[in-house]
Amino acid sequence: MVRLDKIVKRYGTGAPILSNVSMALETGGFYFLTGASGVGKTTLLNIICLAEQPSSGRVMLLGRDAAGLSRAARGVYRRRVGIVFQDFRLIGDLSAGENVALPLRIKGAPEKQIRENVPELLSWVGLAARSDAPVRTLSGGEQQRIAIARAVVGRPDLLIADEPTGNVDDDVAMLLVRVFERINRLGTTVLIATHDIAFARQFEHQRFHLEGGGLTLVPGALVE
Ligand SMILES: Nc1ncnc2c1ncn2[C@@H]1O[C@H](COP(=O)(O)OP(=O)(O)OP(=O)(O)O)[C@@H](O)[C@H]1O
Ligand SMILES: [Mg+2]
Repeated sequence: MVRLDKIVKRYGTGAPILSNVSMALETGGFYFLTGASGVGKTTLLNIICLAEQPSSGRVMLLGRDAAGLSRAARGVYRRRVGIVFQDFRLIGDLSAGENVALPLRIKGAPEKQIRENVPELLSWVGLAARSDAPVRTLSGGEQQRIAIARAVVGRPDLLIADEPTGNVDDDVAMLLVRVFERINRLGTTVLIATHDIAFARQFEHQRFHLEGGGLTLVPGALVE
């Protein structure tokens, strides 16, 4: 689904943040991306979702070189990717339900589908009762859960989540990973970035670890 070959990323004339990163995300896979704060996780996710360009190296998306994609093709790819941003990027004045409905509205989904899917996704993240609340009145952790419901509601081909459990307690974090596993079983490839290695190691999923500009794949293991 996504392949990165020898990606280098540097800002300005500084040392590279990513110095030689290769990675492959298989369709239907479930992966964590771990690494200390500031190591370059968000930068790497931005490259995968075409929000940033690498300084060098090749990005292959759905079998095609991203560098050769037309504007329209980039737009098509982006609409197939659900993103949970580290800073949520919700629309504060809209209700929780309307925020979750946005990807469906952009796609032109029928009203009936919106009326069915939005409450379902809100219940997945445990916020069915807050559908009508303006998002700005929700707590940080609640906003994070709305951002997850919004990223998942359109059943994206690829879900990218940047520190999606950073603002919630352990029980809710576990619930949210179960939400990602649920969407993964429906066919979505999942990549979750977290600085919390111990958290990621609780699950049997494969894990990419970013350190010193390089990436290593740690195979999935059953909980020790
Ligand atoms: N647009 C930018 N211009 C200059 N430097 C940047 C830019 N974006 C990121 N950086 C730098 O790149 C490094 C990696 O940042 P990044 O946000 O990718 O780290 P991260 O692993 O996501 O960290 P965190 O766990 O804190 O979210 C940081 O040192 C950051 O200051
Ligand atoms: Mg980050």
